[in-house]
Amino acid sequence: MATAKTKDILALIEAEHRQIEQLLAEAENAKNTQLYNYFNQIYKALNLHTGAEELVFYPAMQEYEETKKYILEAEEEHEETKALLEELKVLKPNDSEFKTKMSDLKKAVQHHVKEEESEIFSAVQKCMNQEQLIQLGQEFQEAKAKLEEDVEVAMTT
Ligand SMILES: [Fe+2]
Ligand SMILES: [Fe+2]
Repeated sequence: MATAKTKDILALIEAEHRQIEQLLAEAENAKNTQLYNYFNQIYKALNLHTGAEELVFYPAMQEYEETKKYILEAEEEHEETKALLEELKVLKPNDSEFKTKMSDLKKAVQHHVKEEESEIFSAVQKCMNQEQLIQLGQEFQEAKAKLEEDVEVAMTT
């Protein structure tokens, strides 16, 4: 049954990239409490997104030579993003370092997103058919739902 929940994984990932980019752009013009609220949203969105990719998307890429070769670098880029998020979490939005790290985060995300949507997506499209991509889309949504609670807890601790 084709519902909103059965979108293919590439469409889901792409939509989330646009949401995250939007939040990062809006955060650039925000300060104090508003900036912290944006950071909260970015923290959750990025951790859910990278977490679900690691649970569903990258393991599926492991199955084909053509896609497998991109995993290591992508995972390293996720680690870089997560480290920046944790560093930002303990800073106050009006610390001077906060802005610098937010701009590092934005650059890291832009680079990674570009790589996923160009090389990685085209390799995936060569190896997996639409049926597989829809199945993975469903698993991606389920993984996010499962991760939600952990990410909420991580944000506040
Ligand atoms: Fe992504
Ligand atoms: Fe990613």
